Amino acid sequence: MKALVYHGPRKVSVDNVDDAKIEHPNDAVVRITATNICGSDLHMYEGRTDFEEGRTFGHENVGEVVEVGDGVDKIQVGDMVSAPFNISCGHCRNCEHGLTNYCIRMQPLEGWAGAAYGFADMGPYQGGQAEYLRVPYADFNLLRLPEDAREKQDDYVMLSDIFPTGYHATEMADVSPGDSVVVYGSGPVGLMAAYSATIRGAGKVMVVDRHPDRLRLAEEIGAIPIDDSKGSPVDAVLNETDGVGADKGCECVGYQAHDPDGNEDPAMTMNNLVNSVKFTGRIGCVGVFVPQDPGGPDQMAQQGKAAFDFGMFWFKGQQLGVGQAPVKRYNRQLRELIHLGKAKPSWIVSHNLTLDQGPNAYEHFDKREDGWTKVVLHPNGS
Ligand SMILES: NC(=O)c1ccc[n+]([C@@H]2O[C@H](COP(=O)([O-])OP(=O)(O)OC[C@H]3O[C@@H](n4cnc5c(N)ncnc54)[C@H](O)[C@@H]3O)[C@@H](O)[C@H]2O)c1
Ligand SMILES: [Zn+2]
Ligand SMILES: [Zn+2]
Repeated sequence: MKALVYHGPRKVSVDNVDDAKIEHPNDAVVRITATNICGSDLHMYEGRTDFEEGRTFGHENVGEVVEVGDGVDKIQVGDMVSAPFNISCGHCRNCEHGLTNYCIRMQPLEGWAGAAYGFADMGPYQGGQAEYLRVPYADFNLLRLPEDAREKQDDYVMLSDIFPTGYHATEMADVSPGDSVVVYGSGPVGLMAAYSATIRGAGKVMVVDRHPDRLRLAEEIGAIPIDDSKGSPVDAVLNETDGVGADKGCECVGYQAHDPDGNEDPAMTMNNLVNSVKFTGRIGCVGVFVPQDPGGPDQMAQQGKAAFDFGMFWFKGQQLGVGQAPVKRYNRQLRELIHLGKAKPSWIVSHNLTLDQGPNAYEHFDKREDGWTKVVLHPNGS
């Protein structure tokens, strides 16, 4: 089968690879009809992780089940399904508590937790930027989609990661009706956090970035765009909140946070959050941070350390939640919002492309070029 394969920093190509197949009675094989490129792929694409050369990217997958193992009984051949980016077993200590983002069984490293398709340090699983994908524990992991699955594919494809992830940021921040919320990052994840905040009834949503096209998308859902290349985002948030700070905040940038000139500082967005969220406010951080970053800007960053303003964080009595999103906690409810026409996360999609156009799309999306906000690939035609 064809798959998009990583060959080292900023080098990917569409190659012939081994077919995805049933390796365990609980597996299913899914024929991928839509698969997104994610900001998480870019950390790996840029060589800023230890993602192995020769492996396939792709953890935001939708498709049709074409084969199931003997142990699978709910999921059937022909079902249209969304696969959460987390791969989980359903019966380890963490899965039993709903922490499918930290499944112990699917992570091969002793003492570690969490697994995903085509992801650095999250197990050996291949990604779905390919014609077919092997899904372990299919009955547990796959979410069936209703009869409008193909018609609303651009919406449903957001269910495997960024819609639940954005929602998770607002859940960790406890966004409640009437709240003012500041979101750092207007990439796909930040836009989904802003959208989720709106769905949860936030009174005022502010989104910080410096790319006009992305800020425009935030504006389209009623958020206030804050361009940090024009001045301090902290001052802008304080101005919008009578000098008090936002009730809640979301970090949707991650460890490659940089100033508008490109100078990286992994603590930048977290410190801006501490300073632009009010005393006792809550912060949800879904942007990815890593234990080592050999390509980081200085020695501390290379060791995965950030100069976090813990003193002010403590002084303000703020609370913080971090980590990979447990997609299964939200994807069923968010599917219903899409099905019933109450949510349309596809408003951020800029490109629908073939798998062969994937390598070119990576180049554009990686440069955060104007107009490249979210790419959906279709490995098997439309
Ligand atoms: N926790 C999870 O489960 C999970 C899931 C998906 C993605 N992620 C992570 O979320 C992050 C965002 O993903 P994405 O797809 O939106 O990526 P993206 O790279 O497309 O978007 C990030 C945005 O942040 C902006 N930015 C950079 N520095 C900034 C700063 N100092 N202040 C404000 N904005 C700044 C960039 O201009 C860009 O628009 C990534 O780190 C990704 O790995 C986490
Ligand atoms: Zn993703
Ligand atoms: Zn588990």
